[in-house]
Amino acid sequence: MNKLRRAFTYIFTLVFFPLFVFSQSPTIPHLTQKGTATQLIVDNKPFIILGGELGNSTATTVQNMLTVWPKLKAMNLNTVLVPVYWELIEAQEGKFNFSLYWELIIEARKNDIKLIFLWFGSWKNSMSSHAPAWVKLNQGNYPRVKDNTGRSQEILSSLSENVFQADKRAFEHLMQFIKDVDGKDHTVIMVQVENEIGMLPSARDYQALAEEAFKKPVPAELINYLQKNKEKLVPEFWKIWQANGYKTTGDWEAIFGKSLATDEIFMAYFYSKFSNQLAEAGKKIYPLPMFVNAALNREGREPGNYPSAGPLPHLMDVWKAAGSSVDFLAPDFYNPDFKHWCDLYTRQGDVLFVPEHAFDNTVAAKALYTFAHYEGLGFSPFSIESTQKPTEEPLGKMYGLLRELTSLITAHQGQGKIKGVLLSKRDPESIVRMGNYEFTCKHDYTLSWTPGARTDDWSLGSVIIIQTGDDEFFVAGTGVVITFKHRDNKDLNVGLLKVEEGNFENNVWNVKRHLNGDQTHQGRHVNIPTNQIQTQRVALYLYK
Ligand code: DGJ
Repeated sequence: MNKLRRAFTYIFTLVFFPLFVFSQSPTIPHLTQKGTATQLIVDNKPFIILGGELGNSTATTVQNMLTVWPKLKAMNLNTVLVPVYWELIEAQEGKFNFSLYWELIIEARKNDIKLIFLWFGSWKNSMSSHAPAWVKLNQGNYPRVKDNTGRSQEILSSLSENVFQADKRAFEHLMQFIKDVDGKDHTVIMVQVENEIGMLPSARDYQALAEEAFKKPVPAELINYLQKNKEKLVPEFWKIWQANGYKTTGDWEAIFGKSLATDEIFMAYFYSKFSNQLAEAGKKIYPLPMFVNAALNREGREPGNYPSAGPLPHLMDVWKAAGSSVDFLAPDFYNPDFKHWCDLYTRQGDVLFVPEHAFDNTVAAKALYTFAHYEGLGFSPFSIESTQKPTEEPLGKMYGLLRELTSLITAHQGQGKIKGVLLSKRDPESIVRMGNYEFTCKHDYTLSWTPGARTDDWSLGSVIIIQTGDDEFFVAGTGVVITFKHRDNKDLNVGLLKVEEGNFENNVWNVKRHLNGDQTHQGRHVNIPTNQIQTQRVALYLYK
């Protein structure tokens, strides 16, 4: 019997213990699906990116970063987006130097901040300004885009195999470097492939390789995608195909018609092909999540009058058809219509990540809305280090609140238990429904007695509502007043059973104030004033 027990113990230790240890060792950062939400998993835990992107030249020396890290800490960032410049890592062809990035990784670890590297390779804001001198000076080997008058642009051609191979080699070295120095620590959690790819001011490339490809049949993978997804294509793109009779054979103009839109579709396909093949090569070495970002177009403008052919909403099918190694497409915001563009990026069920947003006075509310309404991966204002008063930034306070709420948010993602609204003077009311309840959320300044009610200066209000029980909700954010109804039965009244203001300390709810009297308008509403960022636990009840 003893022998049997010993043998059993031995086999158990040999087989199951390593399995147990293995299952505990942190995996490479990766994306996973939880219900309807996509989560980023870092060291085996869901991670939400409370980010900021550095100005373009800020991380060009370690010394210049010395004053930046404390600012990032003061604003509660957990992630910073940092460019990796092809011109600096491969100044001489085939000789790679990653010392700057090794030091940045060490500093990031000291500050307990994760990194997202932005690969400024062949393209940065349409242009190829970050290509090394040996690429720029060898136009014979590394052809550039030409416009329809034959004039060369400072844009490397996406159709050139030489450009691709040179970029790929550098990108592979980058991924190998990350794997070597960070394969265990996971300081680097994602990689952006290129930056704001786009054609400007010519919608199409007219150099020889492009001309040749333009006259060839549209690649089968795009045709197959069109046929397979006919009912699901984004309407802007579907209309172009439909208007030309849903053709499935022929060259680009045969299938999509002769127009600037067709020129843009053609370019988008080859930009996507290039980006996806680059991502694929990089992932073979070290499979971090990878994405591309877009400079948003102004509606009503023709291709060529904005950075065209990038991963824009009207081209998302083209970008998806050309490969699946790029995990998602991401919008950069320098225009105000946040909801509109986020809706377009998520309409096919894709995850939202905002790698850039102008660092203005709307970012705190929009960061919260990204997690609350879209269950997004993260948010990141651009030129984050530009603040002179990091401790006073509302964004820092919002990120502080989101840090406390992270476990609650990630535990409830993907199940219809998280909702959010964004409120402004123009858009002061929004209704959300969860469980048995309907929440009417209004901007705090809709309360006639608030000091801001009669002003024009309504800073954005924003709230996240997380359902933790049939009648229990956590409500967090700024500048909102909420009233409640039963969702279906209009004869039932909803009352406030208990409202607490508090915070989470190590995931344990800690009550700071019991809210009643004026703070709930004697039980009529839940309110977070405009000048505050806070969390409340709300218990509701029904009466006849
Ligand atoms: C968008 C780009 O992606 C950034 O690198 C930067 O150039 C900003 N525009 C504006 O400064």
